[in-house]
Amino acid sequence: MPQEELSDLQRQVLELKRQRNALILAHNYQRYEVQQIADFVGDSLQLARKSAEVSGFDMIVFAGVKFMAEMTAILAEGTPVYIPSREALCPLAGWIGPAKVRAAKERHPGAPVVVYVNTTAATKAECDAICTSSNAVEVVESLGAETVLFGPDKNLAEYVRRQTGVKVIDIEPLGHCYVHQQFKLEHIERMRALHPDAIVIAHPECPPEVQGAADIIGSTGKMVKIVAEPPEKKFIIATEVGLVEQLQHAHPDKVILPAYEGAVCRQMKKTTLEGILRVLRDLPPENLVTVPDEVKDRVREVINAMNALHSAAESAVVAAGK
Ligand code: 13P
Ligand code: SF4
Repeated sequence: MPQEELSDLQRQVLELKRQRNALILAHNYQRYEVQQIADFVGDSLQLARKSAEVSGFDMIVFAGVKFMAEMTAILAEGTPVYIPSREALCPLAGWIGPAKVRAAKERHPGAPVVVYVNTTAATKAECDAICTSSNAVEVVESLGAETVLFGPDKNLAEYVRRQTGVKVIDIEPLGHCYVHQQFKLEHIERMRALHPDAIVIAHPECPPEVQGAADIIGSTGKMVKIVAEPPEKKFIIATEVGLVEQLQHAHPDKVILPAYEGAVCRQMKKTTLEGILRVLRDLPPENLVTVPDEVKDRVREVINAMNALHSAAESAVVAAGK
């Protein structure tokens, strides 16, 4: 995060964080004032990988939605993980549960199941592999199957279908993220007309016609990387506005515009500085993130397999000298 003046409340949080020997992890969609006091800010894959490396802290505060905090609780086992708002539940994760996954398996016996990380731990325990928006294509390709069951996001499924040629069957054909579903082709066309020199980047949770109108499709982590690279100076971003704000602060020399200002994830915004201060101060047992023992080991396995696939892909890129 760039060096900026901090508020009294932010200073209090940082002091308590120091006293508690706590680590604060935050997703790219968090309020900017929360991102500023976090030790690490990233996309869901980067946060999962970071969680697997945690050591030497007495607690973790996870500023994000519950499914992400669950992954951290599984990977950083031994370090208690607190979520500041128990209401920070991703509605996309509600589109499929274990029963829907089992029913899809019965309809398509033998087809491997890939679920998006935006699912509960109980749903992940039913699948063969999990993916994030930054590695969905690689995960599906790694299975070498002609047909794959995929969910819960229909737009990410369509992206994977187009990129891989694999027969991707939706576990829930209506599953979507209400934030990204709001992006319309007209938003992109209007912004392009106003800023013809801008690069348009869209998240793969956006509808296919929005993805089709973008120059680049990628996860929030990919967006951060692309915007940081020279020489381009102007970007139109089709994802949740928290990332746009982060990018505007990080690159005051560049023009970074939201494709649609109404794209606000209400669940991500439930985490506040006050909420973080409260969990650091009171350690409320109801805010401790727990994952049922019966699914923990299986979920750890699929998350580790996903993280390992990503590391292998990175090593291959380094080996190729890119
Ligand atoms: P990223 O993995 O791109 O951060 O996306 C997470 C998410 O919740 C998108 O809405
Ligand atoms: Fe869930 Fe959409 Fe919010 Fe991401 S932006 S956490 S997918 S509701």
